Formats: sequence, C-alpha cells, structure tokens
Amino acid sequence: MSLRNAGVVTLGRQAQRRAPDAVALLSALPVPMVVLDAENRFTYANHAAEHFLGVSASQLAQMKLVDLVPPDHPAFMLLAQVRQGEVTVSDHDMTFESPRLRKRGIAVQCAPLPEEPGSVLLVLQDASAARALDRQLTFRSAARSVTSMAAILAHEVKNPLSGIRGAAQLLESSVGDADRELTVLIRDEADRIRALVDRMEMFGAKPIEHGGVNIHRVMEHVRRLAQSGFAAAIRFTEIYDPSLPPVHGNRDQLVQVVLNLVKNAAEAIASGGVANGEITLITAFQHGVRLAVPGSDRRMHLPMVVAVRDNGPGIPEDIRSNLFDPFVTSKSSGSGLGLSLVAKIVSDHGGLIEVDSRPGRTEFRLHLPMLADDAAAAG
Ligand SMILES: Nc1ncnc2c1ncn2[C@@H]1O[C@H](COP(=O)(O)OP(=O)(O)OP(=O)(O)O)[C@@H](O)[C@H]1O
Ligand SMILES: [Mg+2]
Repeated sequence: MSLRNAGVVTLGRQAQRRAPDAVALLSALPVPMVVLDAENRFTYANHAAEHFLGVSASQLAQMKLVDLVPPDHPAFMLLAQVRQGEVTVSDHDMTFESPRLRKRGIAVQCAPLPEEPGSVLLVLQDASAARALDRQLTFRSAARSVTSMAAILAHEVKNPLSGIRGAAQLLESSVGDADRELTVLIRDEADRIRALVDRMEMFGAKPIEHGGVNIHRVMEHVRRLAQSGFAAAIRFTEIYDPSLPPVHGNRDQLVQVVLNLVKNAAEAIASGGVANGEITLITAFQHGVRLAVPGSDRRMHLPMVVAVRDNGPGIPEDIRSNLFDPFVTSKSSGSGLGLSLVAKIVSDHGGLIEVDSRPGRTEFRLHLPMLADDAAAAG
C-alpha cells in the first residue's frame, strides 16, 4: 500500500469515528432547510428553518406548504419542475408573503431526494444582504464618477459664470425697463447654476472629520427643519432606540443625508396626493451586518440602523435600477443629485444603504458603523 493510500485509509477511519450523524449536522447548519413529501407535507425542518418560517418543527410536522403560502405561490411551480425533471431548480428572488410569513428577496433551491420519490429538499436563503452589498458597489462607482465630475464642473463653470453674472449686472443699470427684465433673468439663472454647482461641489473629495455623533440629535434637527418648512403638513412618527451608542461619522454630513431622505419622502407624499401623509424616522441596533473593508481583511461592523419611511406612492419603476446615479430624477424641478450625494456620504462613512419600495411604503435604510467599534478596530 502506498503512503498516499495509507493516508486516505487513516483519514477515512478517523472521519468515520468522529462524524456526527447527518440529522445533527443539518440541524446545526445556519441555512434554513426543509423537506417536503410528494403531497408537500413538511417531513423535516432544521433549526434555522424553524426560525426562518417562525413555526416550530413539531407544528410544521402537522402542516403542508399551502398552510404557509397561497396555492398560486411560485414555489409550487418550482417543486413541480423538480419532481418532473428530477433535477435541482432554483429561484434567486422569491417573496413569501402571507399572514404568517413576510420575507422578500429569498433565494430558493430545490433538489429531489432520490431515496424518497416525490420528496424535495428546499434550501432557503435571504439574498437581500448579498444584494445590498451588490448595490452598494454600484453606489460607490456612482459616487466616484460624481466626485470627478464635480471637480471639473466647479473649475470650468464657476469662473465664466461669474463673468456672465457681472456683465448682466453692469447692463442692468444702463438699459431700459423692458430689457432690464432680461438682464435680471440672466442674473437669476446664473445664480441658479451657481447654486447647482455649489451643491455639486459638496461631492469634492476633501477629507472630513469623523467622530462620535448622537444620531437622535441629527434626526430631531432634521425633523424640526422639515416641520417648520417643506413638510409642515406631514405627520412625523419616531421609532427610536434610546440606548443607541454614538455613530462614527460627521454630524453635518449625516444631517445632509437624513434631510435629503426626508425631503424626498415629503415630495413623494405631496406628488402622490396622499391625504394622511406620514414620515417615520427609525433608529435601531442590529447585530450581524458587516462589510468588508476594501483592500484589507478587516470587516466593519455596521450595527447602527437609521431609516426613513414614508407612505407615498413608491419609487417609479423606470428609475429604480439607477436611483443613486446623479441626475436621475422624476421631478420637473429636481436636480437628481440628492440620492447620489446620500450614496457618496454613506459610502465615505463606510456604511450601506438599502431601499425597499412599494406603493404606500418606501423605506431607505442606512447601516452605519458605531463609534466604539471603529475606535477599537483602529487601535
Ligand atoms: N421616498 C421616495 N418615494 C418615491 N420616490 C422617491 C423617493 N425618494 C426618491 N425617489 C425618487 O428618486 C428620484 C431621485 O431622487 P433624488 O433625491 O436623487 O433627486 P430629486 O429629489 O429628484 O432631486 P433633488 O434631490 O436634487 O432635488 C426622485 O426624483 C424620485 O423619483
Ligand atoms: Mg431629492
């Protein structure tokens, strides 16, 4: 027997001695798994699946799939395909919505179990976190393109613009009333472009100081601004976790982020003609959200959740895929810079944004780093 073979035999024996039984292994797996028999009765569910479905294994043993989802749910089609073709079939984005269950963006894999004809193994995975990371990468590239564009604009537009404005002002004193109207128009429009360029300049890559920020003060500041101005007719609801530690970030930039989100929410409510307009401001602590720090093995913990929710008409379908790109807008007077600025700032904070929108409920969720977390990582 060669040495290599001997090694394999030894390993095999050890593995046999130590291998836990398969059911124990499945139970311990953090991925939700269930087995359905030919009549779609639950015959097995691991711990993760009990948690995911919100039903205990003993209850599940008495249930069929149709007790959890409506009979026309796409999962049934998937199951039929698996049984027909005896192959593994998957769907990357399924929604489970019923009185008992509310999950979106679930990746489902179905595999036949040849030893038990008609039985199918279902593996369920919440793909929304992965997709959030995916989208974050697009936010980052959008933010980068804005940064360079902002620099060019500021440089190339501002100087000639102040020339135009100055010339119009000079003319103003020497022309008649009819023409004065035109010079005023030139001046006002030049001012409008100037304001736009100033706003773009905020994308500039100047280093900004980060420290501990009390996120509730930020939220309250924005709420007051909104209620005394553009959102006077809208009801605000606050769902705050008062025990939240400070966010690691820059206070003024975080005000800008929340203000842009609240402004969009108020504008959406107004455009949809919603009678009981409501904006909900949310803060929460959530374990387990991490993001890889580019160029290192470090993972940043993002336990601070800040969300702005509205009951407006939802984000128009046609702009969803590039919502965070500059100049994407559905408003006649919008610049489409609000959300790209939000994306840029959140990205500079090492954070993440998620969006969930349907008619009557739109929520922008930010995941941000906590102060102590980052200080510990740095030290
Ligand atoms: N809460 C929301 N509900 C519905 N649609 C939204 C919401 N937030 C953003 N949107 C959509 O996203 C688009 C882009 O938003 P963004 O803030 O980037 O630009 P804007 O609001 O159009 O212009 P600006 O912010 O520069 O005034 C909006 O025009 C709107 O169609
Ligand atoms: Mg906006």
